[in-house]
Amino acid sequence: MTTSTMAESIAQRDQQLIADALKIRYTPFVHSHGDGANLFDVDGKRYIDFGGAWSAAGLGYSNQRVKDAISAQLDRTTCNILISGLHEPAVDLAERLIALAPGDFEKKVWFGLAGSDASEAAQRMILRATGKPRIVSFIGSWHGTTDAGMALSAHPSLLSGGGAHVTKIPYPNPYRDPFGGDGENLTDRCLDYLEKFLFTTICPPDQVAAIFVEAVQADGGDIVPPDDFLPKLRALCDRHDILLVLDEIKVGLGRTGEWFAFQHGGIAADMILLGKSLGGGLPLSAIIGRREILDVASGFALFTMVGNATSCAAGLAVIEEIERLELVARAGVAGQRMLQGLTDALGEFDFVGDVRGKGLILGVELVEDRVSKKPETTLPAKIVYRAWQNGLIVYYAGNWGNALEFTPPLVIGDEQIDDGIDILRRSFDDVLNGAVSDEEIAAFAGW
Ligand SMILES: Cc1ncc(COP(=O)(O)O)c(C=O)c1O
Repeated sequence: MTTSTMAESIAQRDQQLIADALKIRYTPFVHSHGDGANLFDVDGKRYIDFGGAWSAAGLGYSNQRVKDAISAQLDRTTCNILISGLHEPAVDLAERLIALAPGDFEKKVWFGLAGSDASEAAQRMILRATGKPRIVSFIGSWHGTTDAGMALSAHPSLLSGGGAHVTKIPYPNPYRDPFGGDGENLTDRCLDYLEKFLFTTICPPDQVAAIFVEAVQADGGDIVPPDDFLPKLRALCDRHDILLVLDEIKVGLGRTGEWFAFQHGGIAADMILLGKSLGGGLPLSAIIGRREILDVASGFALFTMVGNATSCAAGLAVIEEIERLELVARAGVAGQRMLQGLTDALGEFDFVGDVRGKGLILGVELVEDRVSKKPETTLPAKIVYRAWQNGLIVYYAGNWGNALEFTPPLVIGDEQIDDGIDILRRSFDDVLNGAVSDEEIAAFAGW
C-alpha cells in the first residue's frame, strides 16, 4: 500500500480542476509558505528558491512590513477602487515611483493588475496620443498574454498571428549573433538593420510611435545585450522622434543592481513598465511615463480594480523595503556571487554553452555541443525536475526552452546561493546518471 502525501493529493485535484491554459508546470510542487528565499511545501519540505515566482517574489515570501501594510489597509476597508474615487496609497505610490524614474520631463503613473495589461495599455495610449500606427519590438520579447500583448511580443510561446502594426527585429544576443557574425559590432548591426533597411523600406520611421524593449531579455533566454545597446537605441529613437518604452516588469525594482535595468545604460525611458514584484505578491502593475501620453483621454485604459488601495499599499511597502534593506546594491553583489558560482560549478559540462547574467537575473544556456550551439532541449525539464526532488526550485525559459533561468528573491543569502548551486550541480550529475525518466516528466513539458 502506498501512502499519498498531502502534496500528491492536491496535485491530483489540481490536474482535474485547474485549466491547463494557465499552467507552465515543471514539477508538482505545492507551495504552502515561505521565509525569505526558502519555500516550504504542504508536507513541510524546504526548498531553496532560485525561481522567485518568475521574479514576482522580489522580497521573498514573508516580508513583515509588506504584510503589515496590507493588513492595515484591509482593516480600513477591504474594497477601495481608484477609477471613480481617490485614495492616498495610490498617490503616495505614484509619487515614489516618479521620484525613482530618471528623465527630466513631467511624468504620471498609470496602474494596472498585471504586466500584460501595462504593456497593452502603454501600446494603446501611445498609438492614440502620437497618431502614429506602428511599433517596433524585439524577437524573443515577452510583453504579455492579452491579444495585444501577444502581438507586441515575439516569443515562440506567444505566436498569435496578429499585430501587423508591430515590426519585430533581432535582439543583440552576444552568444547567438542573429546575423551569424562573431559578436563584433553587434549593436550597430542590429540597429542598422532597423534604421538603414526597415526604416527605408517597410517601416517608415515617421510612422513608428514607439520601440518596446527589455534591458535584459528575460523569457527570450536571460540575454544581456552589449553595453552600447541601450544608449544607441535611445539615440536612434531621439533621431526619429520615437518613444522608447522599457519593459522592466521582470528585471526592474532592483533586480539587476539598479532600480531599473536600463539605468546600466545611463539612459532615460519615455515609459517604464512595472509589474510582478511591485505588488509584493498582490496583483499590481504600473506605467511611469510622459504626462501627455498617460493623459491621452479620460477612461481610456482601465479595469475596475486597477490601482486598488490594497495593492498600492503593498507596492509602497515594497519600495520602502527595497530601500531600507538596500536590496538594489545587494542584488548586484549577490548576482556576482551567483554568476561566479554557476560558472565554477557548471562550466565543465560540455552541454553548458553559456552562463550569463546581470545582478540577480541569470541564465545558463544548454547546447548539444559548444561548436554548433544547437539548443539542447531534452535536459532542462529533467534538470529542473531533479532539482525540485533535491530541494531547489528553478525554471527554464528561452526561445528554444533551453536556458535555465535564475531570478531568486533579492533577499537571498550567500549561503543559500552556494547551497542552491550545490544542489543544481548534483542534479546535473543525477540526470546524466539517468535519475529522471522520460515518463516521470511527461506531464511536465514546461513550455
Ligand atoms: C518582460 C515581461 N513583460 C511582461 C510580462 C507579462 O506579465 P504578466 O504575466 O504579469 O501579465 C512578463 C511575464 O513574464 C515579462 O517577463
